[in-house]
Amino acid sequence: MKKKDFISIANWSAKELLDIITLSYRIKKTPHRFSSALKDRAIALIFEKQSLRTHVAFELGAKQLGAHTVYLTNADISLGKRESIYDVTKNLERWLDAAVVRTYDHKYLEQMASTGKLSIINALSDFEHPCQAVGDFMTILEKLKTVKKKKFAWVGDGNNVCHSLMLLAAKLGMDFTAVTPEKFEPDTFVTTLARDEAQRTKASIVLTNDPTEGVRNADIVYTDVWVSMGEEAHRDEKIKAFVNYQVTTSLMKLAKPTALFMHCLPAHRGEEVTDEVIDSPQSIVFEQAENRLYSQKAILVTLLRKKKTSNIAGE
Ligand code: CP
Ligand code: NVA
Repeated sequence: MKKKDFISIANWSAKELLDIITLSYRIKKTPHRFSSALKDRAIALIFEKQSLRTHVAFELGAKQLGAHTVYLTNADISLGKRESIYDVTKNLERWLDAAVVRTYDHKYLEQMASTGKLSIINALSDFEHPCQAVGDFMTILEKLKTVKKKKFAWVGDGNNVCHSLMLLAAKLGMDFTAVTPEKFEPDTFVTTLARDEAQRTKASIVLTNDPTEGVRNADIVYTDVWVSMGEEAHRDEKIKAFVNYQVTTSLMKLAKPTALFMHCLPAHRGEEVTDEVIDSPQSIVFEQAENRLYSQKAILVTLLRKKKTSNIAGE
């Protein structure tokens, strides 16, 4: 059955996710063939937090597919405060086909998805960033051609971006090592899910607190900010906990000589990564950002493309 929502990598099969990645390549190669794919569909973009890449990719992407967009911030609707999530969703579904939602609380997304017929897309929650993961694996497959027997080393906080990448790596059969400080390991439930998937695809999921061991022989070294949006009050303690987890040129040297450096961005240069690494020929961060556009369009098309419909007389 066609799925309605894109909230977590966990809910989508490897085949379905690879289909989205394949569609992303087709959209990248022949964008004009998709210029009416979502003609006159309507999509809300609800952003409770700041965004450059996700906002641009979905707003521009939706427009390039022929859809209309309405951009709403917390200043407009105060999700869950001005009125209930249920009432917001019941209103939106009268006008729109989908809502792309960036929120602090992952539960809001689940609540919106179970409320009615509106397609809900997770544009980053405290728990996952599935749209980022799809774009990133599009980029990884472009570069490496295969993920089998390749090693992904995550260096940083085991939170939202890490969760989606770990689940997708496991489903597609890429070895994944999460290098985090103690107490910042990925969520236990997500790790168990990823390990179950990895057993099927013969991949490994390793958690370690040791950057040297974790990065050794990696094909991909990936990091993210140490202080995520919403955690600003804990900035000092987080910086202290992560100080030995910066991706530097000497850390990159432990990975394969062909290793690529990735970052979801925004980057806090001088914190999680040095200028030398992010500006090096190994870095593919702007290709990642570019591929967000094609892959977010592919997610929209997958969810919202209509089957051929009959006319008003049912013909
Ligand atoms: N990587 C990412 O989601 O970037 P934005 O926060 O700018 O959307
Ligand atoms: N972990 C970061 C990702 C930003 C795209 C955050 O949640 O702020």
